[in-house]
Amino acid sequence: MSNKHIVILSGDGIGPEIMAEGEKVLAAVNSKFKLGLSWEHQLLGGCAIDAHGVPLPDVTLDAARKAQAVLLAAVGGPKWDAIERSIRPERGLLKIRSELNLFANLRPAILYPQLASASSLKPEIVAGLDILIVRELTGGIYFGQPRGVRTLENGERQGYNTDVYSESEIRRIAHVAFQLAMQRNRKVCSIDKANVLEVTELWKEVTTEVGKEYPEVQLSHMYVDNAAMQLVRNPKQFDVIVTGNLFGDILSDEAAMLTGSIGMLPSASLDQSKKGMYEPCHGSAPDIAGKGVANPLATILSVAMMLRYTFNEEAAARAIEVAVGKVLDQELRTPDIYTEGTKKVGTKEMGDAVVAAL
Ligand code: IPM
Ligand code: MG
Repeated sequence: MSNKHIVILSGDGIGPEIMAEGEKVLAAVNSKFKLGLSWEHQLLGGCAIDAHGVPLPDVTLDAARKAQAVLLAAVGGPKWDAIERSIRPERGLLKIRSELNLFANLRPAILYPQLASASSLKPEIVAGLDILIVRELTGGIYFGQPRGVRTLENGERQGYNTDVYSESEIRRIAHVAFQLAMQRNRKVCSIDKANVLEVTELWKEVTTEVGKEYPEVQLSHMYVDNAAMQLVRNPKQFDVIVTGNLFGDILSDEAAMLTGSIGMLPSASLDQSKKGMYEPCHGSAPDIAGKGVANPLATILSVAMMLRYTFNEEAAARAIEVAVGKVLDQELRTPDIYTEGTKKVGTKEMGDAVVAAL
């Protein structure tokens, strides 16, 4: 094992197919740029339940702790939907995020000019779009206690969750957002529901305090319902968006769709020291699994993000992004981004084309 080691988790559904292409690209840049990276495969999600009875086995967690980065495809599928809640595939994903303290989730929504016509919005509204959503990933209602489904005295069942954020959690994610904004257009929009929820009232207060340390960054605040609307009305008003776990989950899917396909978007989940887990924003798409048609580009672009953020290999990261631009220029399209007149290709052909372009 090198000191630049990666754990690869292919997961479920289309995961193994798209990861095979991600791995090809990783191998290609590793030799081209002499990066000295090494990697191993482990199980997470449904495949881990089948093999070990739990979605995040200890061997996977130990390997992920020792590695510098984790590359994940996707987890979950109908096969495991009916099993007991606490060991569903998604719980494995939440647990690895939490155990590795990956509190900062970066989800860029960038529109490739070649794909402007794949967006459901008018080209002039989305042309040049470049938003970065910074989602808090290890707190909020996803992890708050108490949680569960209980039976009341009258026999009726009641489901409940707790949305909770401490000041320190808000502060550290706010710093990440402001620091990233300093490298971009120096605008942060913090999303809350401070008119109703106390937890986000504190969120707003703390982000405002942190903002004073970044006088060059323009900070604004927006209620989440308005933000959902503004994202489709005039998305280019945003530069960096910072928000809590649940709002970030929802808004990042919405922002993804502005770009034409969620199949294009990578993400990074980082801890305090830039160790990270990198994964496409989309899910395991069980409906198209095994058919060889899934778009591997979000996974391939996740490899680029990994090289940039964890390994500081900007040139190699850029090379992957440029290669993806080239295959789009060649009008190669998986079905999710296909428009008339372009060339429809499968998962493997797309991966091969990226390697060739490298
Ligand atoms: C995401 C996904 C996950 C989440 C699910 C699969 C648990 O939707 O990464 O956005 O809600 O965080
Ligand atoms: Mg989501």
